[in-house]
Amino acid sequence: MPHRIVTLPGDGIGPEIMAPALQVLGAVGDFEFEEHTFGGASIDAHGVALTDETLASCRGADAVLLAAVGGPRWDTTDPHAPRPEQGLLGLRKGLELFANLRPVKPLPALYDASPLRRELIEGTDLLVVRELTGGIYFGEKTRTATSASDVCAYTAEEVERIARVAFRSARSRVSSVDKANVLETSRLWREVVTDLHSREFPHILLEHVLVDNAAMQLVSAPRHFDAILTENMFGDILSDEAAMLTGSIGMLPSASLGGDGPGLFEPVHGSAPDIAGQGIANPLAMFLSAALMLRHGLRLESEAAAVESAVQRALEEGLRTPDLGGGAGTDEATRAVLAHLE
Ligand code: IPM
Ligand code: MG
Repeated sequence: MPHRIVTLPGDGIGPEIMAPALQVLGAVGDFEFEEHTFGGASIDAHGVALTDETLASCRGADAVLLAAVGGPRWDTTDPHAPRPEQGLLGLRKGLELFANLRPVKPLPALYDASPLRRELIEGTDLLVVRELTGGIYFGEKTRTATSASDVCAYTAEEVERIARVAFRSARSRVSSVDKANVLETSRLWREVVTDLHSREFPHILLEHVLVDNAAMQLVSAPRHFDAILTENMFGDILSDEAAMLTGSIGMLPSASLGGDGPGLFEPVHGSAPDIAGQGIANPLAMFLSAALMLRHGLRLESEAAAVESAVQRALEEGLRTPDLGGGAGTDEATRAVLAHLE
């Protein structure tokens, strides 16, 4: 039986990078794909960013592969209007994907594509472990004409389960990032992480880093980090920052895991409406997300490694999309990667 994968191309460059990703997957295995509209496209078709039917299909799949959602067409400050991002948040929550893994390992071929100096980024190999279904993203929201609030809440149980993922993923050190000098949720976070560490992971080094300081260290001493454990919004911000170590946000994949059902695999970048339809989107983060799906979602390690090494070799041979300072379009990038899989 081929693995059943639900694909959600979404909006903007989403469909342009999803189609090549399916070609790449087709080159390493036999999969059954089931596509659903999602995000803004789903709002246009059904009035909501994620329909019950799509969520049910995702639940029944072996893995869910998502490209990107959002765009100016659906941008609004009206709290009652549907937003494409609600689809993404609904899917993460609906599948209980509390653990978001964002590996950041700049490829030697791209050391000079980063705005940071080569000496600084060389040898960086870190993993952002972001809590994905709690915190300020999901707390109660209020809004009147002249005031608004977003509640940031965490339970000890939510903190412990994501901390366990970080300790298990770390080679030797977990840097737990919080704002414990100001936030009550961070003080609970620190207590729970410290307690779990001493009970179950005393062999792993644990340090607590304030989020502002972590933001600084990420660009001044990125090699220092191994696993970075953090809450939802800090993880969102720090992972975009960390992406620049790899040369472009167009390079960073992510895996969202934790529920009993399928995982969700998506690039860290957005739908890039400014370049949609031009055929110049970098599909590599999408390919690398497909590789994470093969590894973590379908337990196909050698297929995952094949895709990753094809991407690496294409870059070594000089492949550069515009975001990396080159002129290759999406098709050319796809052919360059497929050439190493045949
Ligand atoms: C991400 C994105 C999403 C997030 C948006 C699109 C809701 O920025 O996956 O990092 O904030 O989680
Ligand atoms: Mg983000």
